[in-house]
Amino acid sequence: MSITTQAVTTQAVTMQAVTPVILDGDPGHDDAIAWMLALAHPRLDVRAITTVAGNAPIEQTTLNMLRLATLFGAEDVPLAQGCSRPLVAPPQAAPSVHGASGLDGPTLPEPTVALQECSGVELMARILRTSDRPVWIIATGPLTNVATLLMAYPDVKEQIAGISFMGGGIRSGNWTPAAEFNMLVDPEAASVVFASGIPLLMAGLDVTEKAMIMEEDVERIRQVGGVAGHSAGGGPGGTSITEIVAEWLEFFFGFHRELGYEGAPVHDPVAVVALTHPEILTGQDMVVSIETSGAYTRGATVGDVYHTTGKAPNTRVFLDIEREAYVDLIVEAVEHFSEVTPS
Ligand code: BDR
Ligand code: CA
Repeated sequence: MSITTQAVTTQAVTMQAVTPVILDGDPGHDDAIAWMLALAHPRLDVRAITTVAGNAPIEQTTLNMLRLATLFGAEDVPLAQGCSRPLVAPPQAAPSVHGASGLDGPTLPEPTVALQECSGVELMARILRTSDRPVWIIATGPLTNVATLLMAYPDVKEQIAGISFMGGGIRSGNWTPAAEFNMLVDPEAASVVFASGIPLLMAGLDVTEKAMIMEEDVERIRQVGGVAGHSAGGGPGGTSITEIVAEWLEFFFGFHRELGYEGAPVHDPVAVVALTHPEILTGQDMVVSIETSGAYTRGATVGDVYHTTGKAPNTRVFLDIEREAYVDLIVEAVEHFSEVTPS
């Protein structure tokens, strides 16, 4: 039996002129870069940003969100703090990857933006209920907020166009042999999402381990230059966004270099690219389920690669990416925030 790894058709993900999205994540170096891509893209309308506990505790991911919104000049985007712990499991963070702050490395601006008074899940529900069109959710952390939304506000399901998420891996895990970090942190939440019937785009390790940024790419980003204290934000002391992104990547690189990687797999932006540039991705539609027990396999995403269940696929699983085109998209987003003319 052969695997059909067809080029992903754009049918399910063709963007309307402007596609409304909610960004939900646990920043996180790669979450930060994912949000930069989303905020830079002219055909994504970022309607809200919410945080979840994951890479760091919720207070820290929320502070990072406020700093990032300040950095990227996103003061008009409603921001809210989401769930502080997984549905069932105790929280676990990833300081070995992202540092104790969740976003160690360059100094970021102190926030000049404020949180909404409601919770992240309430904000998601409000945005969905009041939208003139279905909204995509781009989730780059554990799926706790998304699952809570679906359980607490089932009426909003109709208003969710789809969920594009970073998480899982059909072939392997990265936090245990079987489980990827976002899935391992909250498998019960992921289970709710996989069973929801909502169109799902999965940027798991199968593709994100190929979404690699090399040393020379970091140098290319650095050469973008740009204006310090840019009107859309910028870092403290005149640090340009270019320099901040380069330093994030270098920090992220450090952890992966010790593991023997040639570059840094920049996972989370792939969930944005799945909407904005699906033509650089290939994948396969399949049934994906998540293991919530299992002595060795809790948090594993089990993909029915060979259609053994005979069930209709619930997930489009991305498997490959045109790496150089991916790097170009990151460079273009940096250029967008640096007031420089693209070369
Ligand atoms: C995922 O885990 C986090 O550390 C990253 O931000 C990414 O979302 C990769 O396994
Ligand atoms: Ca993340």
